[in-house]
Amino acid sequence: MTSGHSFYITTPIYYPSDVPHIGHGYTTVAVDTLARWHRQAGDDTWMLTGTDEHGQKMMRAAAANNATPQEWVDKLVGEAWFPLLRTLDVANDDFIRTSQPRHEERVAKFVQALYDRGYIYAGEFEALYCVGCEEFKTEAEIVDGEGPFEGLKVCAIHSKPLELLQEKNYFFKLSEFQDRLLELYRTVPDFVRPDSARNEVVSFVKNGLKDLSISRSTFDWGIQVPWDPSHVIYVWVDALLNYATAVGYGTDPEEFARRWPAYHVVGKDILRFHAVIWPAMLMAAGLEVPRGVFAHGWLLVGGEKMSKSKLTGIAPTEITDVFGSDAYRYYFLSAIAFGQDGSFSWEDLAARYQAELANGFGNLASRTVAMISRYFDGVVPEPGAATEADLAIQKTVQDAAAHADAAIERFRIDEAIAAVWTVVDALNGYITENEPWALAKDETKRERLSTVLYTAAEGLRALAVLLSPVMPIATEKLWTALGADASIGALLAQPIRAAGQWGALRPGSTVTALSPLFPRVEQDA
Ligand code: ME8
Ligand code: MG
Repeated sequence: MTSGHSFYITTPIYYPSDVPHIGHGYTTVAVDTLARWHRQAGDDTWMLTGTDEHGQKMMRAAAANNATPQEWVDKLVGEAWFPLLRTLDVANDDFIRTSQPRHEERVAKFVQALYDRGYIYAGEFEALYCVGCEEFKTEAEIVDGEGPFEGLKVCAIHSKPLELLQEKNYFFKLSEFQDRLLELYRTVPDFVRPDSARNEVVSFVKNGLKDLSISRSTFDWGIQVPWDPSHVIYVWVDALLNYATAVGYGTDPEEFARRWPAYHVVGKDILRFHAVIWPAMLMAAGLEVPRGVFAHGWLLVGGEKMSKSKLTGIAPTEITDVFGSDAYRYYFLSAIAFGQDGSFSWEDLAARYQAELANGFGNLASRTVAMISRYFDGVVPEPGAATEADLAIQKTVQDAAAHADAAIERFRIDEAIAAVWTVVDALNGYITENEPWALAKDETKRERLSTVLYTAAEGLRALAVLLSPVMPIATEKLWTALGADASIGALLAQPIRAAGQWGALRPGSTVTALSPLFPRVEQDA
């Protein structure tokens, strides 16, 4: 069944030359949250993630571990990259690996199509290459080495020496697409988001584009160029094509028409590949360009971009083992403005966990459920006449739901969470002001007590729905405790765009005990 419009969203496909760190986890949970929101809104949603397995970086990592490239990627993908998705509760619809036959066959078709359409030619080439980036570097991206690399030219990103490559290559006529790309950025202003990313891309393209070397002949770990098997396809061309091959490009036109085009969420490190090269490749093939590219910022550790190659990588399990996956998802998605850099610190994580999740949301849920148990034998009471305070809560919930949905449309997950959190804060204030524990001591205040606790429970119903894309585990627990399953059906079946409509939770539902959603954590120094 397909109801709403098609929403196809992707993460980058990561290099499994090494294990994942919290930066990979960040992109993945962001995309998962956007996908979950749209899925729950009834949109025809598809979320893709995967691994980028070819190229020199991978060959070297394998060689350093006395394995063949295929052995090495199989091991890393099986032992580290699939488990990452379970660790972070990611509900991806597909996982593509570029060494899969489905991908290799379709890439060959695509590259052949570009060749047949006259966009590929053979030429001579000599330039400095960074294996860390898997990219030829222009002068602006090259700096003088320091320490052990003194006297050498190094990559500005990896601080490692560049390699001079001299070969016969096939080239893609990227330079022919300057005008069409600028036209795209002008006519679809949010093709690249946020604005800072868009500006960078526009000025880069305005400076002129060079043709792109798209094949290599000095190694063979890659997909063969169909008309010249002595070459393999450049790893970035191979990788970008995953977004099309995974949804049937070249072999399943119906599936491709249903899903394509996609939204791509990437870190800003790989923005140009997605916002310049990729749409140009699609234009050359006569296909639709992506719906949009959203570039988020970097997680910084000690002021620097966190990375494995600089030994600042933190494994996602270091966080989830202590705080749980919901807290991981909530923390990165709420604390960092999506699109900007954000500094990670254990202190900040622990402080927000305690204040926002344990004391804010978790405590609200626990005490509401406990009071319904104590004062109404666990049965959600029928509300009486609404006062101004009650109506204010209803309005807060309605506005929060609308603002959150609008923020998600703009990919601003952080703003969506902030909107939803107005409900957490308002309900905590409402309970403090209305003092249900005092009302409970006075038989004549029974109706007022009913209204107050119904309002709190119904507010929690809305919170469970609105937060389920962010915190799937805690919201399921809350849903069960509210007895909502039995009275209004499964959490994931609640249409998220209607979550702000007041009164969905039925009086008469039976609540059950709720263990703390965000238990106290023991922290070592
Ligand atoms: O670039 N902060 O793979 P990759 C935030 N295979 N996000 C980060 C991050 C950080 N410090 N470090 C990594 C590749 N990321 C290519 C992609 S796509 C067709 C091919 C995230 O393993 C972020 O999403 O180096 C970044 O863009 C991606 O990991 C790079 O992953
Ligand atoms: Mg990288």
